Amino acid sequence: MPRIPEEILQQVLAATDIVDLVGRSVKLRRAGTNFLGLCPFHNEKSPSFNVSQSRGRYHCFGCGADGNAFQFIMNHEGLTFMEAVKRLADTAGIRIQEEVWDANAEQAAKQRTAIIRVHQEVAAWYHDLLMKHPLADDARQYLKSRGMNSDIAKRWQLGYAPASMQLLRQWAMKHQFSQQLLLDSGLLANSEERGDVYARFRHRLMFPIRNDNREVIAFSGRLLSPDAKTAKYLNSAETPIFNKSKVLFGFDKSKMAISKASQAIVCEGQIDMLMMYEAGFHNVVASQGTSFTEHHARILKRHADEVVLCFDSDNAGYKAAERSFRELAPTGLNVKVATLPPGEDPDSLIRKQGVEAFAKLLAGAKDFMDYQVENAGARRNLEEMRERIRFAEEMTANIRLLDSPVARESAIQRVAIRLGIPEATMRKLIAKPPQGGAGRRTAETSSERPGQKLFAAQDKTAGLLCQMALADPEVLKWLRESGREQVLRDLPGAELLGLVWRGQFDPAEPSALNAFLAGLDPEEEAALSLVLHQPKPPGSLEDAKHALGALELARTRMLKQRLETQLKQPGLSREDAEEIQREIMELHRELIAARGSLV
Ligand code: CTP
Ligand code: MN
Repeated sequence: MPRIPEEILQQVLAATDIVDLVGRSVKLRRAGTNFLGLCPFHNEKSPSFNVSQSRGRYHCFGCGADGNAFQFIMNHEGLTFMEAVKRLADTAGIRIQEEVWDANAEQAAKQRTAIIRVHQEVAAWYHDLLMKHPLADDARQYLKSRGMNSDIAKRWQLGYAPASMQLLRQWAMKHQFSQQLLLDSGLLANSEERGDVYARFRHRLMFPIRNDNREVIAFSGRLLSPDAKTAKYLNSAETPIFNKSKVLFGFDKSKMAISKASQAIVCEGQIDMLMMYEAGFHNVVASQGTSFTEHHARILKRHADEVVLCFDSDNAGYKAAERSFRELAPTGLNVKVATLPPGEDPDSLIRKQGVEAFAKLLAGAKDFMDYQVENAGARRNLEEMRERIRFAEEMTANIRLLDSPVARESAIQRVAIRLGIPEATMRKLIAKPPQGGAGRRTAETSSERPGQKLFAAQDKTAGLLCQMALADPEVLKWLRESGREQVLRDLPGAELLGLVWRGQFDPAEPSALNAFLAGLDPEEEAALSLVLHQPKPPGSLEDAKHALGALELARTRMLKQRLETQLKQPGLSREDAEEIQREIMELHRELIAARGSLV
C-alpha cells in the first residue's frame, strides 16, 4: 500500500467542509456552534448526531459513531481509506502526487474494477442459465424441492453454474475476459496435477454474495445432488475484493431493516437467511457457517444495538453462539439467543411450522447469560453448590466482556439469582483476575496509573457527561439545577459524574475546581484528573441534555431488568410477585414515554 504523507491528508481535510459533506446525506440544522441531525449510523427519532465545522469532526451521542471526513465517507459509503482520501482530494482539487498514488495502487484499483465487472457479468449469466437453459433442469427441480419459486430466484439473482467448461469458455470469449482475469476472480482454478485450469463451480446452485454497495463480489455454490462427495457449499476463494470474514450474506438487502429495528437476526446459512427474509423477517444476515468475526460485529454495531443469534440447537450451535458472543459483547451489542428445536434450522422450521411459529420463537429469544445457565443445567449437576460456583466462575469470563458497567451489573444479578448464589460471591469471582496471560495484563494496567481503574470503570455516556460538565460551566450549572440527580442512584459507572454533580465548587472558578479536587480521596482525584486530560468533547448544552436522557433510559432499563430477574426467584410469595409486576409495568410505561420523547 502506498502511504500518503500526513501533510497531504491534513491539506485534504482542511479543504473539506465537513458540514457540506455530511449535509449531502444528512439533514443538518445549526445548534449553537455545531450542526445537528439524525445519525446515519443508527436508528433514532430525535437528533444526537453532531457535526463540528471548526474541528472537522462528527460525533453521535447516541451510538458513539465518531470521526473526521475520511471516516464519514468510509463508514457511510463503504470505501477504503485510500478511496476516501482520493475522493475528497478530487473534490478539493488536490492532486495526490504520482509517486504517492503509485503505479502499484493504480494497477490494484484497475484489477478490482475488472474483477467486480466479471462478477457482475457472470452472475447475470448464471442467472440466465438457471431461468432458461435446458442444462439447468436439475437446478430448477432442486429449487422447487426447497420451496423457492422463480420470483425468489429473480430477487436474489440465484444462478446455475454448469458443469461444462466449454460453456464457460464461450461466455468468457464473448465478453473478452482473459483466462488470467478469470483466475484472479476465482472462477477458474489451476490444477497442479494436470497442469490445466478448471472451473471452480461446476453443476451447483449459485448464491451471489454482495458487498454493501450491492455489487457481487463472490459466490457460494450449493451441490444439487445429495450423494456427491465434495463439500455441500463451496465459496469463492479470497480475492482482492472478497474476504469471507468481512462480509455478511444478505446485509445489502437487510441493512435498512436492521437499522430500523435496531436489531439484527444472525443465522448460519444463506438459504436460512433468504427464506427468513422472504417470510417477512427482513432484519437478518447469515454468517455463512464461519463464526462471527470482530469485523462482522463492528458492521452490525453501526446499525443495531441488539443481535439475536439463531443457530442450530446442537452442541456445535452452542459453541458457535459462545464464540459469536465473544466478538459481539465487547462492542456493546446486546446478545440474545433464539433456540430452535433439535434438528431444525430456520428454513426447515418456517416451512414445517409456518411464519407465526417462527415469529414466536424469535420473540422468545433469551438473553445470552440466561441461555448459558439453561444450557449448563443440561450438561452438569447444578443441584450442587460447588458445581454452581464452578460454572459461575466460567461465566465470569463472558461477563467481563460486556461493554458497559450497567450490562455487567445486570448480568451479575441475573446469574446470581438464576444460580442461587449470593451476589457478593459473584462479585468476588469477577474481581478475581482471570487466569493466564490476560490476568497479568490486567494487573499491570491497574498498577500503571493511579485512578486509571476507576476512570476505566466509568460508563461511556456518564464519563462523557462528566467531561462536558467539567469543560463547560453552563452544562454543570444546568445539571445541578435540573433536579434529576436520582439518575445517579444504582447506576454503575457514574461515580465520577456524581462527584462533579454534587460538588459545591463554582465551575467557572479554576481555583475552586482545584480546591474541590484536593478534597477528594486520592483515587477519585486521580481519576478526575484523567477526565480533565481527555481531548475536549465536541459538546454543547444540547448534547449534555441528550446524554442525561440516555443515562436515565439506561437506568430505567436496568431497574426493569433487575425486577424481571427477581420475578424468577424461586419461592416468591404471590403478593410480592404482584408488587414486582406492578413496578415493572410502571417502568415499562416510563420507557415507552422516554423513547417517544428522546432516543
Ligand atoms: N457451509 C459451508 N461449507 C460447507 C457446509 C456449510 O460454507 N461445506 C456454510 C454455508 O454457508 C451453510 C452454513 O454453513 O449455509 C450452514 O451449514 P449447514 O447447516 O450444514 O447447511 P444449511 O444452511 O442447512 O444448508 P442446506 O439447508 O442447503 O442443507
Ligand atoms: Mn438447511
